Amino acid sequence: MCGIVAYVGYRNAVRVCIQGLAELEYRGYDASGIVFVANGTLEVVKELGRPENLRKKFVDGLPNSRIAIAHNRWATHGVNNIENAHPHSDCEGIIFLAHNGIIENACGLRENLSLRDHRFKSTTDTEIIAHLIEESNKVVGLEEAVRTVLAGISGSYALVIISKKEPEKIIAARNGSSLWLGMGNGEFFVASEPSAMLAFTKSALPLVDGDIAVIENGSLVISDARGERVHREFRNVTWNVEEAKREGYAHYTLKEIFQGPEAVGNSIFDRIKEGRPACADDSKLREKIRRARRIVSSACGTALYSLELGKYFIEQYAKLPVEVEIASEFYTKNSIIDVGDVFLTVSQSGETLDTLEALRLAQSKGAFSVSIVNKMGTVIPSISDIAIFQNIGREVGVASTKSFLSQAAILLLLSLEFAKIRETLVEDMEEILQGLKNVPALMRKVLAQSENVRALSTQYSHFHNFLYLGRKFNLPVAFEGALKLKELSYVHAEAYGAGEMKHGPLALIDKDFPTMAIAPRDSVYEKVISNIEEIKTRGGPLIAIATEGDERIGRLADHVLYIPETHEALSPFLTASILQLFAYYVALDRGCDIDTPRNLAKSITVA
Ligand code: G6P
Repeated sequence: MCGIVAYVGYRNAVRVCIQGLAELEYRGYDASGIVFVANGTLEVVKELGRPENLRKKFVDGLPNSRIAIAHNRWATHGVNNIENAHPHSDCEGIIFLAHNGIIENACGLRENLSLRDHRFKSTTDTEIIAHLIEESNKVVGLEEAVRTVLAGISGSYALVIISKKEPEKIIAARNGSSLWLGMGNGEFFVASEPSAMLAFTKSALPLVDGDIAVIENGSLVISDARGERVHREFRNVTWNVEEAKREGYAHYTLKEIFQGPEAVGNSIFDRIKEGRPACADDSKLREKIRRARRIVSSACGTALYSLELGKYFIEQYAKLPVEVEIASEFYTKNSIIDVGDVFLTVSQSGETLDTLEALRLAQSKGAFSVSIVNKMGTVIPSISDIAIFQNIGREVGVASTKSFLSQAAILLLLSLEFAKIRETLVEDMEEILQGLKNVPALMRKVLAQSENVRALSTQYSHFHNFLYLGRKFNLPVAFEGALKLKELSYVHAEAYGAGEMKHGPLALIDKDFPTMAIAPRDSVYEKVISNIEEIKTRGGPLIAIATEGDERIGRLADHVLYIPETHEALSPFLTASILQLFAYYVALDRGCDIDTPRNLAKSITVA
């Protein structure tokens, strides 16, 4: 995600903020910007690249402002350029703000503002908030204006706001995106994570969703979502800077597993409009999908397994055959693909070389290309006919976690969009779309059981081999779960279709070869139960992932991890979250280097 730092007090605010941004650099460094007071007015300076570039813009030294708000951008809405860098302002350049998160109703709000003659300088969702506050602030005071505007926007935000009319005041607000306050002697800090202010103060508090904080004249007032004044305790943060970046989580990987619900939320925000999926509203794509005989798809690693899951979604709902192939094979064997095909690829980094080569081959043969990518400004989206962005912020852990969940959410939406285009009947479309909106909440329930998963992992972390089984939507999840265990804990794990397991891998099963069976109550439940019985008869230890209330499976398996009841196409979000936790805790027990597993790299740009 992007980084926010703001300061008001006796120090040089520009220095404090740029130093804080440098601590947040790992969250994104596409561009940075700052607003401060100079010659009695607010001045803004922005620069592309790292905060160091911003510092260098001040060739005559840093101005001596006592107040500033600043931001590091990791491009999501809009390309990486100066105009899209934060802070953003209104038409008159009076209100300035920096924002982390995504405003889901940005399109509609922008259209309405344009009709009322607002002029936009950027293509970001953030700028809309500045214009809305501008309007409201003509009628009520700044604080009231902020409260009114925030009540009308949906999405996630951490916001810091400053106004030319009240240049000694900072307003900070949070909903679904981290924002911390720090307190020193007659000074206040605001930052998206405490690492940005630890050099100056250890006294910090995390704002709660709905909170609006007003800092002015050395005092702080916080009110909650209902507008009522609340008291929140500052506490002494004993973390070092590195711990603070992980916000208390032992590893980035764990933090990112817990960011899974937010990642799904951000990936689907604004992509369900009037009850319809709206991921890639493009006439050429519509035409291609309407006429296509098949989709050909290719990627690497976790992205490949998200495509495997996408295949199940697209074939089930859009009734369009999907071929999935490992990218390094796809291009080396000069695969057959032509102008009638749609080529679909997924890449968190947007620069994996094998994936890029597969895309180039498909394009050279005239296929229409669609990519799902997290990192903007990278080569894969830039050469694709259509690029869909995940909007989940930076993923630091080498092994992909939140990315998989986000990619799966986008692929599910795409499959429903393709179904609409091809006019295939999806009777449960409404139920799936409603359910998908509720998935982040269900995922949070699953993650809340992390202590159970941890206890179970400890019982199993001495095993050297695992078999992961799944069927239908949960077969790709079994593959991804096994990959996570291999990557994070260096334990061998083999994934198999539960029905296929009896044709070979069953020979491996004995008391030293545990099985992880994904068995939610869905259309293949009875079949998976039969497969589980085949394992139990051979004396293999068995963990099952099952639906809450399923007592039958409790009698079969040695251990059960439960997920809440949901539509079967949505269960992968819950089962994958559990498997990510399981792999993490096994790796923890085995003392592995979790964020940077041996021999692996986050972004592989060699073939
Ligand atoms: C590397 C990473 C994996 C990732 C794969 C594909 O192997 O370690 O976590 O899934 O590359 O990366 P991409 O950026 O293309 O999704």
